[in-house]
Amino acid sequence: KRHLISATDLTRDDTVLILDTAEELARVADRPIKKLPTLRGRTVVNLFFEDSTRTRISFEAAAKRLSADVINFSAKGSSVSKGESLKDTALTLEAMGADAVVIRHHDSGAPHRLATSGWIGGSVVNAGDGTHEHPTQALLDAFTLRRRLAGGPERGMGGDLSGRRVTIVGDILHSRVARSNVHLLTTLGAEVTVVAPPTLLPVGVSHWPCAVSYDLDTVLPTSDAVMMLRVQRERMNAAYFPTEREYARRYGLHGERMARMPEHALVMHPGPMNRGMEITAEVADSPRCTAVEQVSGGVSVRMAVLYLLLGGAEPAATTRTDENG
Ligand code: CP
Repeated sequence: KRHLISATDLTRDDTVLILDTAEELARVADRPIKKLPTLRGRTVVNLFFEDSTRTRISFEAAAKRLSADVINFSAKGSSVSKGESLKDTALTLEAMGADAVVIRHHDSGAPHRLATSGWIGGSVVNAGDGTHEHPTQALLDAFTLRRRLAGGPERGMGGDLSGRRVTIVGDILHSRVARSNVHLLTTLGAEVTVVAPPTLLPVGVSHWPCAVSYDLDTVLPTSDAVMMLRVQRERMNAAYFPTEREYARRYGLHGERMARMPEHALVMHPGPMNRGMEITAEVADSPRCTAVEQVSGGVSVRMAVLYLLLGGAEPAATTRTDENG
């Protein structure tokens, strides 16, 4: 494949290949020298039209660990503020020789447009587009789930999430993380339930490959992982925004609610968190919360995506046991 635009682009085999490659590359992070020469001479452009902390930094770290040259572009402070179009920005990057463009954009569909326009010749990776998709977030969430619930780095290679129950809670309507995760986690065999107030569910959610609930307390006792989402006020019309107190009371995860989850169950959050709204500080800082682990797994997953898209050689860090006995 040349681009990664949507979790729906990935078959089960594609997904397992990315996650297994990420496990191999994760071992590089444990070595004194964390760099591989794999993408030496290649250029990765981070093209960010929307704010980001985790995604931008981890794509930068991933590309650098593979020895690629990295150009970071932020719309703020660029000629986009003077009215320059996506097309002219893309043509400028192409002239500088981008082998891969990692794009975050406020418009759903912008990465698809970039990939199919002919404006650039390299690979396009969607780093979050509007309310549409965030496929590498779903991959890193699956990476964390597979490590914790499907056998860990040693036994989990090639493993899937069959029969595991993942509950995604909150602002499903505006969440590209939810869309990508519903598709990717079901591809890996998980049973996904989305939980939200009716006003924060998209029209058409009944056609998604997941169950739908309005009642968090009923699904907690049977969940293996509960993924809390931020309420995205910046994408909302105040008219249908629930009050903070009401939202936290019905859909927030606090210590007492967390106690209703099975002992092994995980609390996940893609970040950024609104502590006190969808998650209390007590839960966010508890050992059950994998938010920080998700971020570190994100670097390995993004290394794997860049490595596979740009056609690097076999990772030098490790060798596959199936090829070497
Ligand atoms: N999870 C995530 O996409 O975070 P950032 O917006 O900080 O990149």
